[in-house]
Amino acid sequence: MSRFIQAVLALVMVAAPSVRAGEVVVGTNAEFMPFEYTDDDNNIIGYDIDVINAVGRAGGFDVRIHNQSFDTLVEGLETGKLDAVISGMTITEARREKIDFSEPYYNAAQVLVVQEKTPGYEKIGDIEGKVVGVQLGTTGAGMAEEVMGENNPDLKQFRKYNEVFSELRIGRIDAIVVDLPVARAYVDKIPGIRISSPPMSEEEYGIAVRKGNAELLAKVNAGLKAIHESGEYDEITAKWFQN
Ligand code: ARG
Repeated sequence: MSRFIQAVLALVMVAAPSVRAGEVVVGTNAEFMPFEYTDDDNNIIGYDIDVINAVGRAGGFDVRIHNQSFDTLVEGLETGKLDAVISGMTITEARREKIDFSEPYYNAAQVLVVQEKTPGYEKIGDIEGKVVGVQLGTTGAGMAEEVMGENNPDLKQFRKYNEVFSELRIGRIDAIVVDLPVARAYVDKIPGIRISSPPMSEEEYGIAVRKGNAELLAKVNAGLKAIHESGEYDEITAKWFQN
């Protein structure tokens, strides 16, 4: 082989997309313990990761996880950078205008988290006039905005829940609006904080695909159905949630 052809081949190989044919690029935001987060070796693990891998096996597609900030996931689908999203993402009417969702695979709700020594904060209205932390682009952020107003400087929007919870721990914010299972995971991990409200919303998580991608959506729904029937869904749920 001539040097020239070798060089051209090398270039082509570098330029070739790293995604294999048939591989589905699934966006997530691995900042949402226990649904998706990174372990000490920086592997992305969690309930959603197990679910999407099982759904892919049962539905006939390979999964490649792509980690990015939560507020860019919908756009990632719209621009075609992502084929699917699994990220503890609540099925909402607003999101449905831009992307399509699978059948629901998990139920959750927003709750308030405060320092253990802080009394009250039993309902969403209690955050009025307070300094509140949320993750950017979430339903929790939306709930807080409804009470506090959209551009309220006391509503602190972070890209990472680790930051939101450390801000609470050191007392720079008064409360967090966050999904209940994630609140539980952080309360178990961080001393001195508590869940102060009952569930304040009813939310269902769905796996999202690009709008109109009926082929992939059918595979995802078929995979979900299959893992419900085989018992694998229950196994994964029991592995990550004690209750
Ligand atoms: N369930 C909430 C929502 O859909 C929060 C999801 C945040 N997920 C994440 N991986 N950071 O807005």
